Amino acid sequence: MRAVINRLNRAEAGRILLYAGLRAAAIFIPLTARAPARMVRWRGLFLAALDPWLRNLLDANSRSARMADGCDKAFIRASHKILAAMPDVRQAKAVNTALRNFEHSKCVERMASHPNRMYMELTNACNMKCPMCTQSTMSGRRTFMPMEIVEKARPVMRYMDLIHFVGCGETFLHPMFREILRAAPSRTATLRIITNGLLLDQDMSRFVVEQQLAELWVSLDAATARTFAIIRESDQFGNILDNLRLLRRIKREAGSEHPNVALNFVARRCNIDELPEFIRMATDLGAGAVNVGYLQVYRRELVDESLFYHQELSDRMMRQAEVVAREAGISLYLPGFFSDRPEIAPASSRAAGKCAEPYHFVYVRAEGTLGPCCVNDARLGSLAEQSFDELWNGTAYQRFRRVVNTAEEDLHCRHCMLEGYKDIHEVEHHLKFVDQQQRVEDIDYKSIAGTA
Ligand SMILES: C[S@@+](CC[C@H](N)C(=O)[O-])C[C@H]1O[C@@H](n2cnc3c(N)ncnc32)[C@H](O)[C@@H]1O
Ligand code: SF4
Ligand code: SF4
Repeated sequence: MRAVINRLNRAEAGRILLYAGLRAAAIFIPLTARAPARMVRWRGLFLAALDPWLRNLLDANSRSARMADGCDKAFIRASHKILAAMPDVRQAKAVNTALRNFEHSKCVERMASHPNRMYMELTNACNMKCPMCTQSTMSGRRTFMPMEIVEKARPVMRYMDLIHFVGCGETFLHPMFREILRAAPSRTATLRIITNGLLLDQDMSRFVVEQQLAELWVSLDAATARTFAIIRESDQFGNILDNLRLLRRIKREAGSEHPNVALNFVARRCNIDELPEFIRMATDLGAGAVNVGYLQVYRRELVDESLFYHQELSDRMMRQAEVVAREAGISLYLPGFFSDRPEIAPASSRAAGKCAEPYHFVYVRAEGTLGPCCVNDARLGSLAEQSFDELWNGTAYQRFRRVVNTAEEDLHCRHCMLEGYKDIHEVEHHLKFVDQQQRVEDIDYKSIAGTA
């Protein structure tokens, strides 16, 4: 240590020691204090005052900055170890949340905390080929997530509030699906599956009830077999309804409330008239909620289906749906009305136009690559090659955090389709043409005419 200090001049050595002390305090205070709420306040006050100063303390390219960088890495590794060693998962999660919220508020590029929401794409293979879905445009071989990748994602699962089995495929097709669900941390995280319902037979229904799966979302998009056939190019509407009735019976016989069932409805021109009826149908089928989202248009042929071009009709049907849902006592989640002013449209997780996903969320694709969210194709390294912690703070993730929410963000971010991240009043929320490799076409979307 003395030798190192001798090599630096006094002022430089002073700065680096100060920096290291403050960084250590910033990371370790929340890890050692008892009450998470108090920790956040402490840490927040402490660093709010010091942070700008801390950042300017070191010249970006100086020797001391490089040493401070090494310090940072060591502290982060230590904080990951401390979190992993905490025997009480709930406490580890609370501490991790305090740390993560703080790190997000400061937009740090390298994180001592872990994300708390994970989407696991167990497969990108599907037994349907809905024309609206990227499944119909995507080229390349389909894969099933290898168990080695599942295992490499497992350590970080203990920090999750939500693990959502979803992606560009059908989860129930994975040959090891049952083993994966059994091993998932159902006590500390909400486990959710989204399915097209085709494989929800008696055996599968029994399994998800036995496992006390928290949430099962079934994508139907239509209240009639005719509309279902147009949207999903399938004649299985009646069979899926039968599957849902069977699940309701099995739950009743088991005296179980789980899984909570929700029906999904991707709203577009050809089905919006059916939304009120869809809600009645969902209630009859025993669903507790209906989730509605706007169609995101990936293919030119579907532009006229976007409700962006049928705003009055869309708002009218959604308002009717609200009335039906209230009368039926079912929860209804709508994506916002076009007639609402932008300021009061829902902003689920993007505070003041800022994307939070690369700090709080991770998307694990079937082949093991990580993504910053479920609509951006960026590949931020692969679990086939590195550990989760290495990737979470790897160069690709750091660069992504640096550019997101800036003019340098990529095309996916500019045409972000997550509700709350892009205003529904902007056409970029609704249209994003992609090629077979999921690359976004860089064109003037505003110039594309609709029919309304
Ligand atoms: C890609 S699917 C995967 C899960 C499963 N295969 C299913 O259909 O539920 C996940 C969700 O995305 C929805 N989806 C597919 N294409 C969409 C699009 N172009 N715009 C909005 N939602 C879409 C589906 O309806 C489904 O609710
Ligand atoms: S069932 Fe789901 S994953 Fe399959 S094509 Fe349809 S929307 Fe896409
Ligand atoms: S595409 Fe949207 S949600 Fe995804 S990282 Fe970019 S801004 Fe965030």
